[in-house]
Amino acid sequence: MQKQLGLVVAGALFSIAVSLPAGAQGKKSLIERGRYLANGPVACANCHTPRGADMAPLANMAYAGGFRIVDPGFDVYTANITPDKDTGIGSWTDAQIIAAIREGKTREGKINFPPMPVPTYNSMSDGDVKAIVAFLRTIKPIHHEVPESKYKVPQQAMPPAKGLPAPSTRDKVAYGRYVVTALAHCFECHSGPDANGAPDPQHNLGSGGFLITLAPGATVMTPNITSDPETGIGKWSDADIKKALTQGIRPDGRHLSPPMPFPFFKNMTHSDLDAVIAFLRTVPPIKRVVERTEFQKNTFK
Ligand code: HEC
Ligand code: HEC
Repeated sequence: MQKQLGLVVAGALFSIAVSLPAGAQGKKSLIERGRYLANGPVACANCHTPRGADMAPLANMAYAGGFRIVDPGFDVYTANITPDKDTGIGSWTDAQIIAAIREGKTREGKINFPPMPVPTYNSMSDGDVKAIVAFLRTIKPIHHEVPESKYKVPQQAMPPAKGLPAPSTRDKVAYGRYVVTALAHCFECHSGPDANGAPDPQHNLGSGGFLITLAPGATVMTPNITSDPETGIGKWSDADIKKALTQGIRPDGRHLSPPMPFPFFKNMTHSDLDAVIAFLRTVPPIKRVVERTEFQKNTFK
């Protein structure tokens, strides 16, 4: 059986190899990796696609920007990251896009975060960031001018990214840590706030209580996802956590609201989800009761 499978796989690889020149084949798998990351763990479109009044993303405006995020420290509009040459990033070089993602520096010399999770992306591997850029080049260009963002918080770019390779997927906890802290930015939403109200992963890793304003009047409080059994998710089974991540449903049957990115995480492979869960189990417990909000529109399927 194993041998047969081997032959089938070899046959499939061979047919790709004969139909595409070697460079194009590498490019194709780079784009596929980027598509997986963007539609799965990284979820750029969770912010970069504007939403309607019901908070559902506008399907014909994928990655066209203009979604407004308001916080005491800033009032920003997400950028148009389609390949449109005038209003998007179609005329940016790969290096310029990569610097914006991992270091937060734009081509015009501005700093583009917070809330873009640039501190998370600073640890993204060279392979993964190049894959995302290759994928962004393939999406439909949309001409869409976006208003300017305003910041009250002081802004500082991240240091040059090291671009280290991702750990091996065979080491579940290490790979899960990479997915959570370099790609999925769980802790930039789920960490408890510091004195200024900004999420503070250094002291409050995963303890929740960060209030997100989705739209005027629609605020959502992030829950505690540490391994604390009483106030976190320490008692949840792996299947419970997977259901919350992929379907947005809690063990008590309640539906989770945006911006929890379950419409993206549902596209993650089982092995990536298992790695995330294995790593979450190692997050030290923090006791913190979070007052939950009741923004239950749940139109974002
Ligand atoms: C939490 C929301 C959020 C997420 C997630 C996010 N971004 Fe952003 N991004 C923003 C905001 C807001 C801006 C605009 C900042 C400004 O105008 O100063 C921005 C700006 C950018 C820019 C600069 C574009 C320009 O014209 O200046 C690029 C490139 C970019 N994002 C790419 C990405 C990619 C790729 C991903 C996924 C890997 C991503 N972003 C994830 C919020 C987000
Ligand atoms: C953009 C912000 C954001 C990101 C990124 C995010 N979450 Fe969430 N998450 C939320 C919010 C908000 C809720 C609560 C929604 C509600 O109360 O309806 C939530 C709910 C949850 C829950 C349910 C817990 C409970 O007690 O109800 C779990 C588990 C969870 N998130 C885990 C994760 C993990 C793991 C990641 C990364 C792989 C992640 N989240 C990324 C915002 C986010």
